[in-house]
Amino acid sequence: AMIDKGNYRHFMAKEIHEQPEVIGHTLSRYLDLAARKAKVPDGMAVDFSGLTRLVMSACGTAYYAGLVGKYWFEKYARLPVEIDIASEFRYRELPVNPGEMALFISQSGETADTLASLRYCKAAGLTIGAVVNVPESTIAREADLVFPTIAGPEIGVASTKAFTCQLSVLASLAILAGRQRGVLTADQEAELVGALSEAPGLALKALALEARIEKLAPGLSRASDVLYLGRSTSYPLALEGALKLKELSYIHAEGYAAGELKHGPIALIDENLPVIVIAPHDAIYEKTVSNMQEVAARGGRILLITDEKGAEASGLADRDRILMPALSEIVAPIIYSIPIQLIAYHVAVFMGTDVDQPRNLAKSVTVE
Ligand code: AGP
Repeated sequence: AMIDKGNYRHFMAKEIHEQPEVIGHTLSRYLDLAARKAKVPDGMAVDFSGLTRLVMSACGTAYYAGLVGKYWFEKYARLPVEIDIASEFRYRELPVNPGEMALFISQSGETADTLASLRYCKAAGLTIGAVVNVPESTIAREADLVFPTIAGPEIGVASTKAFTCQLSVLASLAILAGRQRGVLTADQEAELVGALSEAPGLALKALALEARIEKLAPGLSRASDVLYLGRSTSYPLALEGALKLKELSYIHAEGYAAGELKHGPIALIDENLPVIVIAPHDAIYEKTVSNMQEVAARGGRILLITDEKGAEASGLADRDRILMPALSEIVAPIIYSIPIQLIAYHVAVFMGTDVDQPRNLAKSVTVE
């Protein structure tokens, strides 16, 4: 079928706005709401119970989804995760052992480095899982277990809806693994499933922030560099935010773990450097805020993405924050992706760059 932009100015805008729907489609395959349990799509069998390690690899945005997944598998399923970008993974000669499973993440299912990493693990005899959006792709065909994302075709070169669908699948699999490994009780599983199932409605709420975010674009567009900070699952989001801004607006951006700031990047802080802090009011919120105060003390321009409680505790003025709904921990990374995408999108639109087809980039990197 012909895919068009509908009433949107760009495919990227359309794909950002499709997220409530496609996250819902994806979760419907992985959550059994009546039983309040995580599941795999009909007809699939997967067993995380005896695994000693999960080995993951991907590129770009898909890699950042995997990095969030690492926090989830380790926390909710006590399953150790080894993850690396595929261009390194494929050559580093990682020792792998029976009893481990490998998981690759790819929107297109055609990324050359990710495919090579898959083949490395396959040759070593591991069971191969793949989280893919294109079901007839090479990676899907070569995997033993295909975990589909139901994002629909993603046309914009910058990945948006595929990312939040990848997160939805990984969160569900981490819950499933937690049950299978005897880490989560039935009550804990039910609570996590309930929280995750709210993602579509919460994504819609986050999209309502668009007008507010659009107003921030002119200010950000004047920066020559932007720093993104976060801890825990917000750390991969900081990396993703920086990648999105770079690829769309050509503004240099870096994502850092907030706690790593004083080990170098704090030297960059001055009144010309916008610092975007991603910090839901969670268990480590105070730690991130203390890093943020180090930035403020040096005259840095802060934009804090947080919820009501976080905003109150931050002491920042309204103009320096984006107010998100209060969220359960497991759903937060999915929903916080949305303001991050909207920031990059609106800065690019304001600057007049080619949003759907940024210079020098290909949608799918099928050569090394
Ligand atoms: C994301 O915005 C990028 N354009 C890029 O990093 C992409 O995520 C990466 O090339 C991986 O692609 P894949 O998911 O199709 O494997």
